[in-house]
Amino acid sequence: MDEINLELKAEASNYPSLQLSDRHLCDLELIINGGFNPLTGFMNQNDYDSVVSGMRLSNGSLWPIPITLDINDKFVSAISNAPKIALRDKEGFILAVLEIEDIWKPDLELEAQSVFGTRDTKHPGVNYVLNTSNKNYIGGRIKKVSAPHHYDFHELRHSPDELKSIFKKNKWNKVIAFQTRNPIHKAHFELTTQAMKELNANLLIHPVVGMTKPGDVNHYTRARCYGHIMKEYPKSSAFLSLLPLAMRMGGPKETLLHAIIRKNYGCSHLIVGRDHAGPGLDSNNEPFYEPYEAQDILKKYQDELGIEMVPFKFMVFVPQIKAFKAIDDVDEDEEYKTLSGTELRQLLDKGKGIPEWFTFKSVAHELERSNPPLTRRGLTIFFTGLSGSGKSTLANGLVTRFLEQGSRPVTLLDGDIVRTNLSSELGFSKEHRSINIKRIGYVASEITKNGGIAICAPIAPYEEDRKMNRRLISKEGGYVEIFVNTPLEKCEERDSKGLYAMAREGKIKEFTGISDPYEEPMNAEIVINSSGKSPDILVNEIYEKIVNMGFIEEHK
Ligand code: PPS
Repeated sequence: MDEINLELKAEASNYPSLQLSDRHLCDLELIINGGFNPLTGFMNQNDYDSVVSGMRLSNGSLWPIPITLDINDKFVSAISNAPKIALRDKEGFILAVLEIEDIWKPDLELEAQSVFGTRDTKHPGVNYVLNTSNKNYIGGRIKKVSAPHHYDFHELRHSPDELKSIFKKNKWNKVIAFQTRNPIHKAHFELTTQAMKELNANLLIHPVVGMTKPGDVNHYTRARCYGHIMKEYPKSSAFLSLLPLAMRMGGPKETLLHAIIRKNYGCSHLIVGRDHAGPGLDSNNEPFYEPYEAQDILKKYQDELGIEMVPFKFMVFVPQIKAFKAIDDVDEDEEYKTLSGTELRQLLDKGKGIPEWFTFKSVAHELERSNPPLTRRGLTIFFTGLSGSGKSTLANGLVTRFLEQGSRPVTLLDGDIVRTNLSSELGFSKEHRSINIKRIGYVASEITKNGGIAICAPIAPYEEDRKMNRRLISKEGGYVEIFVNTPLEKCEERDSKGLYAMAREGKIKEFTGISDPYEEPMNAEIVINSSGKSPDILVNEIYEKIVNMGFIEEHK
């Protein structure tokens, strides 16, 4: 159990408190444990400006990416004149005190452009800076009260000092770090084994379990996969430790950060392959960085950083020799195989086995266990449309079809049901509608996570609220948005509840379509133009589309 500075904790309870986000918590942990050495706190304005403009701290040390604490305007006003603030985790535990040096409004566009080389928000690092970060930064030295608490994998988490002493005890003088945010497959196993042999060194498998790229395999599954892989390495040659880093997917710049961190953790070498810490494709479907740009930048700075790069080319499987080769070494007449992350996900979605040349059986088994085929995964069907558009009729029809099919439990979250059971105190202001939709999203995400089918049918008139639900729920399973595009005139003509007439007379205020907006969905998977077709036919059409998307087993 980590020690707690009780004196500082008592003092800290007098200061204004800031509850940290997941990303802040990751950064704080590495500041506190020395993983971010020489940083001793969240950056002040001098260091920030200097890193943004020239990739160096104000004292001249190389530092590639700002490590900042962002706060909102309300908090800025609340702490005027306070010399220090207490930093708390989500449960309210005080972790540290920040001695305030600067509070400022950064130029976030400039930061995105100079740090990541782009303002394209498809880049996860840029997206955080421009769309998620609060608009003020607060910087200053950190004093630790207690290290952030983890409930998972205690035995696999180590501070830099702990790892260094383990290396020392084992007389490991040369340690190669392998950074990863993915499960380790045979190609990675091959290159790490090769690196160990060539350098006569030991290996640290150092996967990131803080924050990685949205859509990555969750760290629980990955940790189990790493556990299996460790058994494949020669005895006492490799060590596994989990790193609580929040990745920025910053490609070359992030590679420098990875090198600094691994140096701090006592490693002498860092493996850098193709597209290290790559953010994926930009809005024009082009890569943000060159495939070996990360290697080029680390080559330039490795001496200054005091850690040596072990560069690797992309490894491919050559069936003829039943072995992996660097792609540049494949002969012209040799066939080779690769499997991208997307292809792997497609295999899992369809319940097809992962080929044995690609990964160890034990790893394949873990991945198949935590990513069952789409036909067994949780699913949310989210209807949206005007009152009287037919959402509830279609949703009820679909519930019955799923119950008849019987593959998963089904829950209906119809607008009226939710308004009675979850949101009875809410009205129809923009704010209340958003709260209502968030509640539906939360419940649907839990149902989806646990393998059920949630069918939601609120009006959900705002695109932003729908987008948020899509993001939240897609992490847990399938998500299908259905826009029931019945024209207002038709809904008003039906007026099954008599609400439109009352809204026209002004007896109901803020009525969607009459005195309140409805923003039409831009990205719905299914659009229903109901005019002329019976509900039975429409339900059938929707059901067939969902079958075709792969979420329901086709009828035999
Ligand atoms: S929202 O915007 O998504 O929160 O609305 P929702 O919860 O789906 O609304 C549920 C039902 O409330 C009735 N109702 C109103 N709708 C829109 N605007 C106003 N002002 C309003 N007042 C009451 C309406 O019958 C909605 O049900 P449906 O099934 O859509 O007709």
